Amino acid sequence: MIVAIDGPAGAGKSTVAKLIAAKLRYVYLDTGALYRAVAWKALATGTDTTSPNAMKRLCESTQLTIRHAEDGGMVVEVDGRRLTSEIRAPEVTRAAAQVAAIAEVRSWLLPIQQGFGRRKDVAGIVAEGRDLGTRVFPEAPVKFFFKADLEERARRRHQELMTAGKVNASDLSETSRALDARDGQDQSRDVSPLRPAEDAEVIDTTSLTAEEVVEHMLSTIERKAAAHQ
Ligand code: DC
Repeated sequence: MIVAIDGPAGAGKSTVAKLIAAKLRYVYLDTGALYRAVAWKALATGTDTTSPNAMKRLCESTQLTIRHAEDGGMVVEVDGRRLTSEIRAPEVTRAAAQVAAIAEVRSWLLPIQQGFGRRKDVAGIVAEGRDLGTRVFPEAPVKFFFKADLEERARRRHQELMTAGKVNASDLSETSRALDARDGQDQSRDVSPLRPAEDAEVIDTTSLTAEEVVEHMLSTIERKAAAHQ
């Protein structure tokens, strides 16, 4: 069983995907972390994150490994180095949106994500990102597309950054601007732009709690899983 969740930043995808994975004993695939890991290596090696040729060479010389964390999350390793909070830094976030617009990077990451989805040793996977339902797992029996008002998404992202000690309270408008700019990039790029799959259920999470979203999704998943068998 593959559950695909797409949507813009701050719509609640990671929180909900982890809760669903824990409830159903599925594994969690955070595809944004893969783009972030590639962007992190590009910054660490001084590679031009806007150059398709340079990024292609970088990908081809990279060993990327996905591991499960004890807390149910996902950890990515680049060339044997375990990456955690460093891929959440603002400069990596900006660079990730740039490398995600490069077709060569997307095609290199595609089989890595699809290979994970074909695993036979797990009951199911919950994968989240921007093109899971449209490109990576078009055959997924259950697809969701989350959306939420910019104001609310910025508030959530700001709260996360504050909890992590990364911003202070006065930076909310900056967080909102950065989020809006990144969504614009994700929606307007030529390759796999952010958009709902035709068969995705769209959920507006603006005024819902994570638990409410999870409850609704679990009933959809149960129904689709029964029909799928
Ligand atoms: O979800 P996130 O913020 O960790 O994603 C980081 C960047 O990667 C963001 O700009 C969108 C991009 N991305 C993508 O293009 N396709 C995916 N499947 C996942 C993330």
